[in-house]
Amino acid sequence: MIPSTEILIIGGGITGLSIAIELKLRGATPLVLCRNFSEAATHAAAGMIAPQAEALPAGPMLDLCLRSRDLYPDWTSKLEEISGLSVGYWPCGILAPAYETVSNSPPHPLTPSSSPAFWLDKTAINVHQLGLGEDVTGGWWFPEDGQVDNRALARALWAAAEALGIEVREGVTVEFIAQRHGQVSSVRTNSGDFQAQHYVLATGAWSNQLLPVPVYPKKGQMLSLRMPATSDGQSPYSGTLQRVLYGKDIYIVPRRDGRLVIGATSEEVGFTPGNTPAGVQTLLSRAIRLYPALQHYPIEDFWWGYRPATPDEWPILGPSLCDNLTLATGHYRNGILLAPATAGLIADWILHQKSDPLLAHFHASRFFTSQPATASLQTSHKNADSMLTYPTPIQANSALTVQDSALTIAGKTFHSRLMTGTGKYRSIEQMQQSVIASNCQIVTVAVRRVQTKAPGHEGLAEALDWTKIWMLPNTAGCQTAEEAIRVARLGREMAKLLGQEDNNFVKLEVIPDSKYLLPDPIGTLQAAEQLVKEGFAVLPYINADPMLAKRLEEAGCATVMPLGSPIGSGQGITTAANIQIIIENSKVPVVVDAGIGTPSEAAQAMEMGADALLINSAIAMAKHPAAMAKAMGMAAEAGRLAYLAGRMPVKAGASASSPQTGTIAD
Ligand code: GLY
Repeated sequence: MIPSTEILIIGGGITGLSIAIELKLRGATPLVLCRNFSEAATHAAAGMIAPQAEALPAGPMLDLCLRSRDLYPDWTSKLEEISGLSVGYWPCGILAPAYETVSNSPPHPLTPSSSPAFWLDKTAINVHQLGLGEDVTGGWWFPEDGQVDNRALARALWAAAEALGIEVREGVTVEFIAQRHGQVSSVRTNSGDFQAQHYVLATGAWSNQLLPVPVYPKKGQMLSLRMPATSDGQSPYSGTLQRVLYGKDIYIVPRRDGRLVIGATSEEVGFTPGNTPAGVQTLLSRAIRLYPALQHYPIEDFWWGYRPATPDEWPILGPSLCDNLTLATGHYRNGILLAPATAGLIADWILHQKSDPLLAHFHASRFFTSQPATASLQTSHKNADSMLTYPTPIQANSALTVQDSALTIAGKTFHSRLMTGTGKYRSIEQMQQSVIASNCQIVTVAVRRVQTKAPGHEGLAEALDWTKIWMLPNTAGCQTAEEAIRVARLGREMAKLLGQEDNNFVKLEVIPDSKYLLPDPIGTLQAAEQLVKEGFAVLPYINADPMLAKRLEEAGCATVMPLGSPIGSGQGITTAANIQIIIENSKVPVVVDAGIGTPSEAAQAMEMGADALLINSAIAMAKHPAAMAKAMGMAAEAGRLAYLAGRMPVKAGASASSPQTGTIAD
């Protein structure tokens, strides 16, 4: 047994080293175990300090990233002072060129009030940055974002650790974390066992090889070019590219030493190593489209790395199920940016058990609030607060086999993939019971019916707990785009009255046809365009038309909601082939709406890969609505799990269930 240390940090990437240095500066004695630094995401990254360019939606994650960006100047100068090395921190700003035409100077929807962002039109962006691709039509300028040379930063972290007398052991692989009575008792490594008073897990994409945390690798391929030197031959390329370019699925990061870093693919291929022709081709063609001059620069290097992704793309920070183990992992795309904030928060937590209110949003517990699968109809919403904020991955049991990401619509995450409605119930009590039994989090409400106090719609404000249920106002009853736009605005006011100040959602229905209640595609698109401009998160109800779905997505809609069959018909998914195409092509969530009559049809839609369902009539018109609601909730979950699990291939012939070869006994 190796002698006990005070704090053992497992992982020697930027997160582990930054925490170690922070702890040491506060008087503690950390020891860092590092398996192979060259594999760390730290080494692979581009080093962007880009909370705004990454377009993080408002909320705790953006707050954490902005806080970390603010810490960067002081944190890096302290490291430079301790290590004597430059880290290449450069608050050069990030320009995010766009190819789509955006109407004049729109307010950036994600801009925090404290951080400026400027929309530049085509003329302005070409003055601001020479050499952009011809089809760039404008773009955002984020002057406070920037970059750091992540490899220089890593060298400085190692040197600072050494200068401070922190022991960092390279080449040590932790194989097992031994636990007893809710405590880590030791860690087993390829160099013997280690013991400590406290442990920190900071092993990035490899974290769930040691603990059952939902972190998985998302591979990024990258490459670098060499920018030409300026004509005076003195300084390397100080001429044109003086800021990061962050385009659609591509970024180009000019370093002060003349390197041009280009990234990155985003691939769910596990730990498959290597650069691929397809990956490199994609990067180069996107980069050349954005900044054509680089097509002539010499290529210097190719590499890849694994981002530590989590289901909600937020890091996992703070306490674990063991009292003496703290988690600092899952930083996904923002590990370099988040290093200083992570180090500060984790040191506060370990040394003083001081938890900044922000830290609570990043606890691992957010992934483990799944509800018991009881057959009872008494399902309560006692966990609903946390469920509303945090996604719940599907957990088969502790041997977690499939990872799911949350349903995210317009930046808001929901653990349930079933939405229900309030219409057609025989009593308000049945509606209340059904909403609860379905375990849904989104309930759609017809604004017009509330206004006219249609039966079942009076007392709606009191009938449901609107602190836990997200209201989705819908424009049912509107025959034209103009009417729907007007009713959507009323819906927003209605949400405010229910205390949902930030609710900008609208389920857009433009339905001139009273027999089949089929939506008008042209009116829907017109209304959607207008409502998106007014800042609504638009969820349009449409026929299952893949081209229309694409147009609505391009118009900025938050989802598309194709119908399975006519509203209230209970005919099931008669449009399956078209819905499948919509699912295949869509970048926004696809919510199958209307026509589902039974749980098997609900499961069918989810098995096809729909992101969510909206079911009203099949529940409200069932003999026992609450029981049907419960069944629909379970079907949505089962269908989703089956989709993630991947069905067996369909075969023409039989295949014995007990084959004679390949059994365990062979
Ligand atoms: N931070 C950029 C990326 O992960 O690709």
